[in-house]
Amino acid sequence: MNKITSQTPSQCVVLPQATLTKIRKNILGLRETCERRLEDAIAQRMAEKQMGPASYLVFVKGNEIEQNLLKKMTAVEKTYFFRPQEHYELFAEELPKTIRRKGEALVWYPGCSSGEGPASLYIVAAARSTQTAEKTVIYASDLRKEAIDKAKAGGPYSSAYALLEKGDKAAEWISFAKKKGLFIENPRDDSFLLSSAVTSSIKYLTHDLTTNAILGAFDFIFCCNVLFYYKRVVQVPIVQKLFGALSRGGHLFLGDDDLKTISEALEGFKHERQSPTVIRRPL
Ligand SMILES: C[S@@+](CC[C@H](N)C(=O)[O-])C[C@H]1O[C@@H](n2cnc3c(N)ncnc32)[C@H](O)[C@@H]1O
Repeated sequence: MNKITSQTPSQCVVLPQATLTKIRKNILGLRETCERRLEDAIAQRMAEKQMGPASYLVFVKGNEIEQNLLKKMTAVEKTYFFRPQEHYELFAEELPKTIRRKGEALVWYPGCSSGEGPASLYIVAAARSTQTAEKTVIYASDLRKEAIDKAKAGGPYSSAYALLEKGDKAAEWISFAKKKGLFIENPRDDSFLLSSAVTSSIKYLTHDLTTNAILGAFDFIFCCNVLFYYKRVVQVPIVQKLFGALSRGGHLFLGDDDLKTISEALEGFKHERQSPTVIRRPL
């Protein structure tokens, strides 16, 4: 069935389902659940480029810049602090052990959206001690530059949404952050900013997990709620590369949607399962 997508009242583009599927599946490797957002993105790009579906298909094939743009337009940025709480609890437990063993801990949070996740990691480290925070080196990346720009600026975030996690431990960390002035609340509305103590301790960068190199020897990698956009054939090599970027004894935290991918990706790799979504590279 052909889909009709309108741009402006005077402009109407007919996008054949076959073209949409080809771009989603064969060119971008995205899952069917992304199709609605991708369809809007393609319609917008066809209108901007004044191209019909056939010429746009030729244009996007082999054009990495355009493919990246479509991926960025399709990605959604939903996130909040301490998501999910269990991952942060395990991090709080393992972080001091890593620092004792290695002198410092190297952490990477790819797909960080507007930065709530890596900031939560900093807060957890600071809640242990100032020294722990100083010895925790956090890198945070995302495919979308505008998300990284907001993360670097430390918000603003809406309290009602950003502090969604309701667990006891998250509540403790949130009250610690407020007491230490790490959250700067705006008295005029429900928003808040992160203090520069948090943002200046995190190294932010744009990075695409599907195309950029995945290297390093990280003690902790958090890649939650990111891979679900992609088909299994795209997810599996990313999980293998993330696992390969762990130091000995390092932990990889993945999302609830990644369970099947984890089993497929780590078949034949020596690993320990700390929980369904947390994998440890043996020491
Ligand atoms: C739903 S948000 C999840 C944010 C956070 N990880 C969390 O669990 O709350 C997904 C993020 O992944 C990013 N993303 C999608 N594809 C990516 C890729 N190929 N490389 C890096 N980031 C990507 C999106 O831009 C978006 O900010």
